[in-house]
Amino acid sequence: MPGPRLYDELVDWYFLVDPTEDHADEAESYRAALHGGPPPATVATRPKLLDLGAGAGNNAFHLKAHFDCTLTDLSEPMLALSRDLNPECEHILGDMRSLKLGRTFDAVLVHDAVMYMTTESDLLAAIQTAFDHTRRGGVAVFAPDCFRETFDESFDAFGADDFRGGDAGERSARCLEWKWDPSPDDTTYVVDYAFMLRENGVVRTVHDRHVEGLFAQSTWLRLFARVGFEASLVPRALGEGESDSVFLCRRG
Ligand SMILES: C[S@@+](CC[C@H](N)C(=O)[O-])C[C@H]1O[C@@H](n2cnc3c(N)ncnc32)[C@H](O)[C@@H]1O
Repeated sequence: MPGPRLYDELVDWYFLVDPTEDHADEAESYRAALHGGPPPATVATRPKLLDLGAGAGNNAFHLKAHFDCTLTDLSEPMLALSRDLNPECEHILGDMRSLKLGRTFDAVLVHDAVMYMTTESDLLAAIQTAFDHTRRGGVAVFAPDCFRETFDESFDAFGADDFRGGDAGERSARCLEWKWDPSPDDTTYVVDYAFMLRENGVVRTVHDRHVEGLFAQSTWLRLFARVGFEASLVPRALGEGESDSVFLCRRG
């Protein structure tokens, strides 16, 4: 099945759909959680952070002041966006289920890209990758959009105009995001996006379906224990006073 169109043929529109500035609050939550771990082995250097599924680098943009960041993703077009946004960071093409860099980091971030783990074996593989790249005494944050317990069918509408230069009003995007679960007994749900993309006065519409994983917190905790992580829930700020919970894991 082809991957999401947003991370491939629609990548030029990505920052209109997901602006970098919207990630400041959550990135601060990740910074606080990841810095809560023991100090890095070499205190003279900044802590090293590996981001699995960094996408266009929106969280890394806010974290790179605090960490030396290595950013990985499955999509080369998304990594290309991040290289422009975060030229000082290392970028590596790779699948979080199989990546093997042969080195460890003080901190590992697995953000919303983990939603594309749609089976328990894929989720276990991603958790194992994070564990293998976390140094002893280091920490990892897993920040899925939702858990089985917190999932709600919902829709949202958003959009932006003319992000990053160009003539005023030249490019605009409007987006409807509709989350629903066609089969509540399995480990997936779907997010259907309807994008209306206006360029030079011409509007086209594109449907993009993302199949995402849905797991109970007890499943996450069982998989963390299986690889050797000690996990707990910590708060994540979502902006406008809202918050939810993400997992902070320690490698002993
Ligand atoms: C919403 S974007 C990530 C945004 C990113 N967390 C940020 O801070 O801006 C989702 C990303 O997950 C990536 N992805 C999906 N499956 C992946 C996998 N198996 N390994 C690595 N990245 C993956 C996609 O290519 C896409 O770039």
